[in-house]
Amino acid sequence: MRRQSGIRLAKRLDEVGFSDIVQIRNKVMALRAEGLHVHALHGGEPFFETPPDIKYAAIKALVENQTHYAPSSGVLPLRKALADKLAAKNGIHVTTDEVIATVGGSQGLYAAFQGVLDPGDDALVFSPYWTPISDLVTGAQARPLLVPTSTARRNGIRNTLEQFSTPQTRAIYYNTPQNPSGLVFTRAEAQEVAAFAIERDLVVIADEAYEDLLYDGAHVSIASLPGMAERTITAFTFSKTYAMTGWRAGYAVAKEPFMTALRKIVLYSTNGVATPVQYAMIQALTTPEAEIARLREEYRQRRDLLVAGLNEVGLECPSPAGAFYAFPNAEKVHKNSRTAAQILLDKAHIATIPGSVFGAQGEGHLRFGYAITLKEIEDCVEALRRFFA
Ligand SMILES: Cc1ncc(COP(=O)(O)O)c(C=O)c1O
Repeated sequence: MRRQSGIRLAKRLDEVGFSDIVQIRNKVMALRAEGLHVHALHGGEPFFETPPDIKYAAIKALVENQTHYAPSSGVLPLRKALADKLAAKNGIHVTTDEVIATVGGSQGLYAAFQGVLDPGDDALVFSPYWTPISDLVTGAQARPLLVPTSTARRNGIRNTLEQFSTPQTRAIYYNTPQNPSGLVFTRAEAQEVAAFAIERDLVVIADEAYEDLLYDGAHVSIASLPGMAERTITAFTFSKTYAMTGWRAGYAVAKEPFMTALRKIVLYSTNGVATPVQYAMIQALTTPEAEIARLREEYRQRRDLLVAGLNEVGLECPSPAGAFYAFPNAEKVHKNSRTAAQILLDKAHIATIPGSVFGAQGEGHLRFGYAITLKEIEDCVEALRRFFA
């Protein structure tokens, strides 16, 4: 038998894709480089800069030589501040050993899927979902089982999860508020997911990246529900609340045995978060809730402006309850969402993300990110009016 070439990738990467969103971002950059004005609604970055006190905390840490190796799970004052925040804001009561600093929410999610799934396992994923999730599942040599969220909300969460699960199902990915739809699960729905997880002895991988961007009612952390702390790994990020996307700052919370898995994966992938960044995280956690509420109102204004504009031109869009994305039906542009996105980019110079990149259940929609200035939203709405005129 001929020996396979050594110049090849590990098989576990065969099914792992490379983000479509990054490819769209590259295309927008290329158009801009040609001198074209592009209405940039394809992104997911806050409209404001990282607050100065957070930047100065990192500078101070550098000047004070906080430039050495730190404990790979995070310095104690950070883990203490995180445990306090989780108790006060999320109703998740943990020790400083049950929380770990991660390189963005992404590393927390990567470590969670790697730490829970074995080859051949299945993971239930409400769809549409944030694109990297299916790659994180397949990268663990497991299979994502897409659960249509709208069907689940209509027919009952528990029944639908039951219908889509298999004997190999080990985990449920639970994201609220959601990217790309802006949907927020209710407390009753969280309880249904929790009841199903307990009944079927499943692990919940919770993604609460948008916990502070919820326009009505309170955010419910599924790990705070009875019986859930021991079977939930929750990933959080500083990216969205504090406009820290480029800092790569996040954290995860879990009990044993999962914390051991998270620690091993963080240790052997990055050996922790950059030390000065950890001091910036401590500062960020001192941000008054009133300031976070003020920013939320800024986002609400943007949401209302964009959603009104979309509905006015006939891109039917319910008002999203959370996050900073609108997810209208785009069939009026084209039935195929990739074609619709291409048409809007070519003809109206509006960059969006085709719904199909978020799973088959996203087809027929486009994602518009509204974490941009009010003026940029007004200009985009005007461009839509011209396009449909
Ligand atoms: C749903 C969701 N989870 C997690 C993340 C992770 O963000 P980061 O790695 O910047 O913390 C994002 C970022 O867009 C997201 O949309």
